[in-house]
Amino acid sequence: MPRSRSAPTAGTIARNGKRVAADSAEVDVVSPGSSTTKVKAGDTLTYVHSVTRVKATVHVGDCRDALRDPVKIPPGTFDLIFADPPFNWNRGYDKWNDALHVDEYLDFTFEWLELCVAALRPGGSLWVNIPDDWAAEIVCFLKGRKVSDTRSIGPGTLAMRNWCVWHYRFGQNTTERFINSKVHALYFIKGGGQHHWDPTDVLELSDRAAVYGDPRTLSKKDGMPPSMRVPMDVWYGKFWGRVQGNSKERRHYHDNQLPEVYLERVISACSKPGDLVLDPFLGSGTTGVVAHALNRRFVGCEFSPVNAQHALDRIKEGPIRPMGKARGLSSAIFPERKPQKSSKTFPDDR
Ligand SMILES: C[S@@+](CC[C@H](N)C(=O)[O-])C[C@H]1O[C@@H](n2cnc3c(N)ncnc32)[C@H](O)[C@@H]1O
Repeated sequence: MPRSRSAPTAGTIARNGKRVAADSAEVDVVSPGSSTTKVKAGDTLTYVHSVTRVKATVHVGDCRDALRDPVKIPPGTFDLIFADPPFNWNRGYDKWNDALHVDEYLDFTFEWLELCVAALRPGGSLWVNIPDDWAAEIVCFLKGRKVSDTRSIGPGTLAMRNWCVWHYRFGQNTTERFINSKVHALYFIKGGGQHHWDPTDVLELSDRAAVYGDPRTLSKKDGMPPSMRVPMDVWYGKFWGRVQGNSKERRHYHDNQLPEVYLERVISACSKPGDLVLDPFLGSGTTGVVAHALNRRFVGCEFSPVNAQHALDRIKEGPIRPMGKARGLSSAIFPERKPQKSSKTFPDDR
């Protein structure tokens, strides 16, 4: 459908391989009432950045169907998979039934996990964002496929690299038990290939630098820059809060959105530009937005056609916060104990 071309060209949007829009004024390609342009299950939406030529693809429908289709998701090719599945918390997703029987939910979970392992390349990374309810089952399932350690895993086996925790404030209030304030971020690697790990872009200020003014941090021998360290496995801090109504990042209709910094940390450390990243449960599109901004090729799946369209629009718009905004911050929980001798000694943005 003809559209105004007032905005500069940023890329192309295509549906099922057919080019349907070429400038940013035409991102909202679904025209109400037009059956020919309505997004539906089975569709594939794509966006290619006009400058970087980096491509993002969104498959609409059940991720298990896409994961079984070697044309949509070629097995053994993905460098990084990040999965934030429905938690079966009876949330009002646009289409998905989020209140399955426990057995049904676990069957579903193990099915998509196995398909994701098949989609990973040897050496690739698998991350799963999951609450207390299901973390133990998933860890046992993934470890149980073939238990091994990270030094000797063979092709097809998985090894756990980290069990991270995303800690947030403002969880659901309750007085009957302790208030939930975390989700698990499970990090596995597939054996049989070279694993990519580079924390350079996600380093944070060490406590020695931020709190204690300890000069030893300036002459570290761990290969990290002076005063900097790899983040710990409990994640929190500035920009790490739940994406709620008052957040700049918040998208309408998505109450399960992850913060951009979370995906930036995972994608930056576990992939490099040009790598192929998959999110089987795209939701509002956070993984796609960050992967695309970091010049990774991206494939997402989303059951809801409306969500899929919104996610693609969001990928095109780009992240709210510039990449690197959280880099070099401190997550220290104690106030500074010893005044720094020189403001030049440590980075200013603690
Ligand atoms: C927890 S949300 C993902 C949120 C996302 N990480 C974000 O930051 O916006 C889960 C999403 O998975 C979608 N979904 C549920 N079952 C699915 C399935 N079988 N295949 C593909 N998508 C599914 C839901 O519609 C929902 O949008």
